[in-house]
Amino acid sequence: MIDIHCHILPNLDDGAKSFEESIKMLEIAKGDGIEEIVATPHIYPEFYFPDGEKIKNSFEELKIKAKEFSIELYLGTDLHLTPESIKYLKEGKAFPINFGNYVLVEPPEFFYEKEMTEMLFSLRGEGYIPIITHPERYQIFREKMDLLKIIVEQGNYLQLTSASITGYFGENVINFCKSLFKKNLVHLIASDAHSPRKRVPALKGAYELIEEWEGLEYVNLLKENAKNVILNKGISNFERKKEKRKWVKKILNKLW
Ligand SMILES: [Fe+2]
Repeated sequence: MIDIHCHILPNLDDGAKSFEESIKMLEIAKGDGIEEIVATPHIYPEFYFPDGEKIKNSFEELKIKAKEFSIELYLGTDLHLTPESIKYLKEGKAFPINFGNYVLVEPPEFFYEKEMTEMLFSLRGEGYIPIITHPERYQIFREKMDLLKIIVEQGNYLQLTSASITGYFGENVINFCKSLFKKNLVHLIASDAHSPRKRVPALKGAYELIEEWEGLEYVNLLKENAKNVILNKGISNFERKKEKRKWVKKILNKLW
């Protein structure tokens, strides 16, 4: 399994608090069956704004350690969405996933719809592909699923947090996740792990639940998408796959 969102680098944000904690997170990830992790420290200027070079050095150091666990580490950032986001990416203060085009973006807690869609539009205009982190945790999205639909139609992707699916954030959030799956609005899941204690790097439990809710095919698509994000290839939603199936069925019916 691949985890594309994890605060595993030590002492850069509110994630791992020491190199030892990072190692413990690697151990947990390994135990869960995770083989690849994208290390994504926060870039949230009012709170966490680690220096780009410091991030890279920390990444290189942990990448070597991760090999001992047979885990491949990649670099990215969890970029708080602001009008400055593009500038930070261009200046090497924030990083797309594995130096490709996909960028993890965290919407502000409160935002105007127009302002947010414009910021996403600008990012796409510069060739970046935004992946919105944990939309299920925002009240505004829970109240307005149509807004998420529009955001996806505009060319952005959605990443749910595994702990939201397994219940860490309560029943409301679980139910909203279920609705997002039903509407084929989920492209990726990730741990967004912050420590080896509470929010840990684990995906297995969430994938098992998704299989129960939606079937193995959806799970396989999510895993394939995670791989393609790292490879900087195209990712898709479940609906397109369904359409493809219907199309094949039609032809087969005609033949029979
Ligand atoms: Fe995060």
